[in-house]
Amino acid sequence: MANSTSLIVLSLAFVFMINSALAAKAPYNVASLGGKGDGKTESTKAFISAWAKACASAEPAVIYVPRGRFLLHNVVFAGPCKNNAITFRIAGTLVAPSDYRVIGNADNWISFEDVEGVTISGGILDGKGTDLWACKAAGKSCPSGATTLSFSNSNDIKVSGVISLNSQMFHIVINGCHNVKMQSVKVSASGQSPNTDGIHVQMSSSVTILNSKIATGDDCVSIGPGTSDLWIENIKCGPGHGISIGSLGKDQEEAGVQNVTVKSITFFNTQNGLRIKSWGRPSTGFAKDILFQHAVMLNVQNPIVIDQNYCPDNKGCPGQVSGVKISDVTYQDIHGTSATEVAVKFDCSSKYPCSNIKMKDVKLTYKNQAAEASCSHAAGTSHGTVQPTSCL
Ligand SMILES: *[C@@H]1O[C@H](CO)[C@@H](O)[C@H](O)[C@H]1NC(C)=O
Repeated sequence: MANSTSLIVLSLAFVFMINSALAAKAPYNVASLGGKGDGKTESTKAFISAWAKACASAEPAVIYVPRGRFLLHNVVFAGPCKNNAITFRIAGTLVAPSDYRVIGNADNWISFEDVEGVTISGGILDGKGTDLWACKAAGKSCPSGATTLSFSNSNDIKVSGVISLNSQMFHIVINGCHNVKMQSVKVSASGQSPNTDGIHVQMSSSVTILNSKIATGDDCVSIGPGTSDLWIENIKCGPGHGISIGSLGKDQEEAGVQNVTVKSITFFNTQNGLRIKSWGRPSTGFAKDILFQHAVMLNVQNPIVIDQNYCPDNKGCPGQVSGVKISDVTYQDIHGTSATEVAVKFDCSSKYPCSNIKMKDVKLTYKNQAAEASCSHAAGTSHGTVQPTSCL
């Protein structure tokens, strides 16, 4: 009797605690802080003031962006904050200035720095990049362009249900972060747009990217130096340049990439499927413990590729070989169609050959016939059906 009474009292106290935590504070609504969702009035100050209040709050805080189009210049949401649970709930659209020069020389359009426990839920981020891409395509002198959404030196980040349209440069960048979960993200830009990588991860650990759809002009996901414990699952990629580890080995002293899982990916009409790419020059970089599993290739130019001779314009690496060591890479259950005859290409470093490459149940065709494989300086094993016949 005494026991069950105290149990009831305890659970009531618990329910009360949860309620008061949830009801903590009314959200900071950018429309109540001077923001206007008319697509014309610049609302940057309202966002900065909402962030200042949320960041100064000792309790969890919500910033709310209602329906409408909010014109936003480049902005940094910086920590550290007084709490570690700030949620941006976005019902509307954040719009970059239509003149690309306004944010085009900033590294980022919307940037989070030194924050802990930030969630972004919903919303459309419209980077308005098309005029800048046209400027670049015309070979004029143009600003390099801003990344749409960037997280740096931050921990415990969640992004879900966010749509990123027409970024000037990379759509989403995760740099120097730990514990990041992205899901149900949609990236959309022209297949011709330059350097518009979907999600780029570097110098970060424990990053998960799930259930997302990426159509863009560069890599759907690019994985840079210093990435570890990365999990990518259930992604539709295309158009785009595929999922790429690299470019690695640009710098002499460089952190490696380790423990990456890429599974259940569909590639549509992409330039590459599963790629590892390094510069052909000396470096301490490496890539190891990589699993590529369950991928479907539909008309992909280079479905499986390791390219260690990357050297754009043949500058900065003549006669040099890549120092990047690639090992323990598994390709399992990869099938579909190649748009070129060579569906599997391992072009590894002559100084540090690729080692322990495993192929299991790979079947790729070219024009309804077996495709080809080409290997240089690559060693490993194959199991089950492997078509094209392994050259390892
Ligand atoms: C590899 O990364 C995953 C997360 O992607 C993690 O769960 C796992 O523990 C890591 N494995 C090792 C050996 O560190």
